[in-house]
Order: sequence, then structure tokens, then C-alpha cells
Amino acid sequence: MKAAITTTAKYLPEEVMSNQDLERMLDTNDEWITSRTGIKERRILRDPAKATSYMCTEVAKSLLEKRGISADEIDLIIVATMSPDMIFPSTACLVQGNIGARNAWGFDLSAACSGFLYGLYTGAQFIESGNCKKVIVIGADKMSSILDYTDRSTAILFGDGAGGVLLEAAAEEGYGVLDARLYSDGLNGPNHLLMPGGGSLHPASHETVDQHMHFIKQDGKQVFKAAVMAMADVAAEIMQRNNLTAENIDWLVPHQANQRIIHATADRMGITEEKVMMNIARYGNTTAGTVPICLAELDEQGKLHKGSNLVLVSFGAGYTWGGVYVRWQ
Ligand code: UT7
Repeated sequence: MKAAITTTAKYLPEEVMSNQDLERMLDTNDEWITSRTGIKERRILRDPAKATSYMCTEVAKSLLEKRGISADEIDLIIVATMSPDMIFPSTACLVQGNIGARNAWGFDLSAACSGFLYGLYTGAQFIESGNCKKVIVIGADKMSSILDYTDRSTAILFGDGAGGVLLEAAAEEGYGVLDARLYSDGLNGPNHLLMPGGGSLHPASHETVDQHMHFIKQDGKQVFKAAVMAMADVAAEIMQRNNLTAENIDWLVPHQANQRIIHATADRMGITEEKVMMNIARYGNTTAGTVPICLAELDEQGKLHKGSNLVLVSFGAGYTWGGVYVRWQ
């Protein structure tokens, strides 16, 4: 039996950082940010004592509450993130401890903006194989912890947030996570979007701090070109493999990095604007959080029905990208 998403949840910190707030910190302006990206504001988890595991824990608690189950029933917790609380232990272990999921095991998954799609497909395998009955998959990033607020080319793009789903066996055949195509390109991607410091290559030192190596570095133009091509290609591939058409797709749920990339993907699919889930204006790019936050919002708004056809697509550092076809149950 395929894996189905049976519950969705999201957590966004309350504090809003608007484009106007950024205008006061950087040589930028609302007009540039809005026209180039579609972003108007993003959320910031200001409390230094709260990190990615806090947001994940809020999502996990909400999943359990909505589904009406206890943490004991969870078999596996997958956290997709590139801003873990610490390099080790894993954020998944911290979440397990916070919710008291004594029968679970868990791990973090590193695929940047594609982390949730990678995690969703990975979690689905454990359901399909019969090894697990209930799997939590969360995508979360505290991007404000790795942003250089003196670099206008990256600081304006990202925000903090988390979203997640509970996976269980689909109740009927023909529903759930029906197909996925996941890719990476370590031949061309690694140098264009990265955080150079803090790993085993450049462990923290006075020098790495002085050189701002613990912050995101992005060659925006290169990443933009690669993202437009890859997201549109994988969306087309998912459509073709599953006999999906612009008419029978109900929702395109894309990674929220740039409104222009999303429009290019929708155009290639022939999908009209009202079928494209977009909340980038309110949250910016929350990296692994974008797709599950979008799913949770669609769900909250009652826009997902039995048989709804969803195409999820993402692109991020690595490069990593992919598409997943979900038929809502
Ligand atoms: O989620 C992970 C994957 N990431 C992405 O998908 C991001 C992909 N890249 C992008 O979305 C876009 O490349 C950006 C939004 C990052 C940048 O947009 P762009 O249209 O590629 O702008 P650009 O980097 O070519 O910069 C154009 C101009 C430059 O000035 P000059 O050289 O033309 O005088 C920049 O210095 O805009 C300037 N600029 C800014 N101006 C005001 C760059 N950042 C800013 C800023 N405010 N924040």
C-alpha cells in the first residue's frame, strides 16, 4: 500500500520582518525585493534560546494533536534541515525527546530546499515496505541563524519556519504518494549555494568568523537559471509519467524561493495562477519549510479533497531538486 499524508501542520514564529524593516538595515528597498522575488515579509525566531528543534517540536505536537494519537505510536521521525540546532546530535533526536516518542527512531536529512521532498519520499518507503506504520516528516529551517544581515543579496530572501506531515498507509489503492523523481547535481551545484564554514573543511576559527564563512553564500543568477530549468523539467516529467494534464492537476505546490521561478514552472506546465500555491509574499524562503507549510495552509483552508492531484516541486543547494505526485486521500 502507498503512503498517504494523513495530517499536516506548520509553525511560523510570530515576529514579522518586513521589507521596510530591511530597508533600515541594508541598501535595499521594498520595490526591488517585491519585483525581483515576490517577498513582502518573512518571520523571524528571535529568541536565541529557541532553534530549529523548537519549531519542529511545535509541528510534531500539532500533528499528534490533530490526528489524536500519542507519541508512543510514532515509528520514525525524519527532519529535513540545513540549520540543525547542532551538527550533532540530530534535530530528530531532540524532537523525539521533546515529544517523548519512546518507540521511534529518527534522523536528519540534508538536502537544503529539497529536503522535505527527499524526506517525504524516504518516509514513504518505510510505510510501503511495511516497516513503519506512522512516520513524521518535517522540513524546518531557522534561516536567520545563518544569514549575513550585511549581505543584501541573501538577507532579503529567507525567513524562519517549519512544516510537517504524518505519513500512514493509504486507506485505498490509488491514493497517497504515487510517484517521485528526485535528482542531485554534485558536478555543477556545490559552489553556487553553500555555507563554507563550520564543517570539517573549515571548522570554526577566528578566521572563519572574520570572513563571514558561517553564513549562506549564493550566486543568485546561476542558481536562478538552474532552478528554472530543473523545476520545470521535473514538473513536466512527473506530468508525463502519470498522465497528468493542466486540467486534472488541482495544485502545483512549489518551493517558494522566487515568484519568477514559480511562474516559469507553472507556465511550462500550462497551469493557471489559481492552481499555484504561493505564500512567498508572507514567509519568504523558509528552505526545507516551504513545501510542508504550503501543504498545511492548503489543508487548513479546506482546499484539499479526496482525489485532489498535487504536484510538489523543489530546487535547492547541492544542487538538489525533485517532483512528487500526491493524490490526496
Ligand atoms: O532556495 C534555494 C534556491 N535559491 C534560489 O532559487 C534563488 C535563485 N536566485 C534568485 O532568486 C535571484 O537571482 C535573486 C533574487 C537572488 C537576485 O535577483 P536577480 O534578478 O538575479 O538580481 P541580480 O543578482 O542580477 O542583481 C541585479 C542588481 C545588481 O545591481 P547591478 O549590478 O545591476 O547594478 C545587484 O547589485 O540588483 C542589485 N541587488 C540589489 N538591489 C537592491 C542585489 N540585491 C539587491 C537588493 N536590493 N537586496
